[in-house]
Amino acid sequence: MHSTSDDQLDPRESVYRERREAALAAFIHSTPVIYRHDVDIHPTAVQWAAQGTDAPRNLFLTGAIGVGKTHTAWQAARLWLERRVTRTGRRPSIEAWRSTSLFDALRPDNHDYDARVLTAQLQKADLLYIDDLAAARVSPTGWTQERLYELFDERYINRRPVLITCDVLPGATGDIVGDRVQSRLREMFRGGVLLLEGADRREGAAA
Ligand SMILES: Nc1ncnc2c1ncn2[C@@H]1O[C@H](COP(=O)(O)OP(=O)(O)OP(=O)(O)O)[C@@H](O)[C@H]1O
Ligand SMILES: [Mg+2]
Repeated sequence: MHSTSDDQLDPRESVYRERREAALAAFIHSTPVIYRHDVDIHPTAVQWAAQGTDAPRNLFLTGAIGVGKTHTAWQAARLWLERRVTRTGRRPSIEAWRSTSLFDALRPDNHDYDARVLTAQLQKADLLYIDDLAAARVSPTGWTQERLYELFDERYINRRPVLITCDVLPGATGDIVGDRVQSRLREMFRGGVLLLEGADRREGAAA
């Protein structure tokens, strides 16, 4: 019979469990409040989070306004984190950014971030999650697009996972991220585009 009590776990198991719980608690703390609770998410997102041999490495969640893209992404990232700590015993780094804040942080005149330092940090993170990639009304300028190129090219050539929510498909992102990044996104997300369907879940929600 299996027991989950601490005294019956081997010491390594128990250390891993503590690490997993600490990593999850920290990630939940950094998650926006409305996305902290678990909901039923699409099986493809669960499969991506498990990163099995058949699962896509990268996940691109698309669909109309309010179908649940962002909630699915936060929850999939939580599952991904849990599986990753379980497998490796190490806490992975996750960079989660709204696209508009990211493009702003990667501007040459941003005083809060050094764009080159940030680019290097995002290149190396174990998981990069960008929410609402096509949300910006004003597209990044040439210099910022170059940082995006460096960021995505590095992740692309090293096969580091990327999670994106977006209301247009990877092949329609060229106006925002530039043609070279768009080309990489098309390949990175081949087999990993998940269309969420349904009504705007915000409609009819309690005020
Ligand atoms: N599977 C689900 N079950 C129950 N509620 C959900 C589910 N997915 C999302 N929600 C809720 O529906 C609302 C809208 O979800 P979310 O913000 O993820 O939509 P979105 O597709 O990202 O919208 P937008 O395109 O405007 O960014 C939120 O309140 C969210 O908590
Ligand atoms: Mg959203």
